[in-house]
Amino acid sequence: MRETVAVDLGARSYEVQIGAGLLATAGAEIAPLLRRPRVAVITDETVGALHLAALRAGLGNIDMVSLALPAGESTKGWPQFSRAVEWLLEQQVERKDVVIAFGGGVIGDLVGFAAAVLRRGVRFVQIPTTLLAQVDSSVGGKTGINAPQGKNLIGAFHQPSLVLADIDLLDTLPTRDLLAGYGEVVKYGLLGDAAFFDWLETNAPAMAAGDTALRLRAVTRSVQMKAEIVVRDETEEGDRALLNLGHTFCHALEKATGYGPRLLHGEGVAIGCALAFELSQRMGLCSQEAPSRVRAHLRAMGCKVDLADIPGDLPGPEALIGLMAQDKKVQDGQMRFVLAHGIGKAFVCADVPGDLLHDVLSDALATR
Ligand code: NAD
Ligand code: GLY
Repeated sequence: MRETVAVDLGARSYEVQIGAGLLATAGAEIAPLLRRPRVAVITDETVGALHLAALRAGLGNIDMVSLALPAGESTKGWPQFSRAVEWLLEQQVERKDVVIAFGGGVIGDLVGFAAAVLRRGVRFVQIPTTLLAQVDSSVGGKTGINAPQGKNLIGAFHQPSLVLADIDLLDTLPTRDLLAGYGEVVKYGLLGDAAFFDWLETNAPAMAAGDTALRLRAVTRSVQMKAEIVVRDETEEGDRALLNLGHTFCHALEKATGYGPRLLHGEGVAIGCALAFELSQRMGLCSQEAPSRVRAHLRAMGCKVDLADIPGDLPGPEALIGLMAQDKKVQDGQMRFVLAHGIGKAFVCADVPGDLLHDVLSDALATR
């Protein structure tokens, strides 16, 4: 069982291979990219302990050096980034070599950025190991780290040369991380494919429970949608902003909760999608049924949906709106939101009345 999605970006084109058991043949897939039979792999300690030996075996005759960084979002900052770049230099990784990012979105983003700046740019391969990374972060070339001022504020566009999404790796993923990744899957249905959302309503419970064929279909459809948007707008001049449905809320909540275990990125996306649909409905853009359906599905899946699902204190509405002002979609000081005319009909909106935004947040905070 294997699917291939092409990301057609001219000289920067690449394939996303999705399937079961891909790790075992990683060497054969990567070998055509190599000038010499040697790769540098960066992973995190959790993924390394579980799966690095299998990757080593799958690479066959290719030599591998590896570094494992601490697991978790707090790794995605300057200290571990410097450590990764310096390690790659110590390993004498050359301009024509290939670096492998083996992990979730944290490792993919950090290692991709390290590859972008190392010797002014080396190629890299993404081997995503979380649902979130397989459906979203490994595809499209957004790389980077967090700054004290906010999420993903330091980075570069640097496309991978190949993505190998082995869905068997999801078998060891804790349920919380799987459901967080599901936030990004449901996002695709909500932003542009109502039929996919219908399909998820029926099939996502069995997909989350481990059905391989359903996982293959969910990951493949998500990657197809991401690839279509990235091909239209690689550097986010327009349509790519749609992929940020739920993210303006999410990034503010992640900042407010300290980028830690209180709120995982994908959990923030799910809550953010529910808030974006609520805001859309209050602005009269979509029916009352739409936000209810979004919330009901997320709830049925066991995802976080409400601000009440985030443990601990949160700042008030004004402070949250202040945190949103650091969003990368801000233009000329004007916040831009991804809103929706209905399920599968998202668009970018720069005219959100401040009082309505305040009311949505204030009501959401009141349920805590
Ligand atoms: P993550 O990389 O922190 O992984 C989540 C946890 O799962 C970690 O503890 C990790 O060690 C563990 N893990 C990973 N694979 C595992 C496996 N197969 N088995 C067991 N444990 C495993 O988090 P994530 O949710 O994958 O990614 C979140 C990050 O992705 C955020 O920083 C977010 O900003 C970024 N992101 C980037 C893009 C992009 O386009 N570049 C898109 C979406 C999200
Ligand atoms: N995850 C948002 C993007 O890749 O543009």
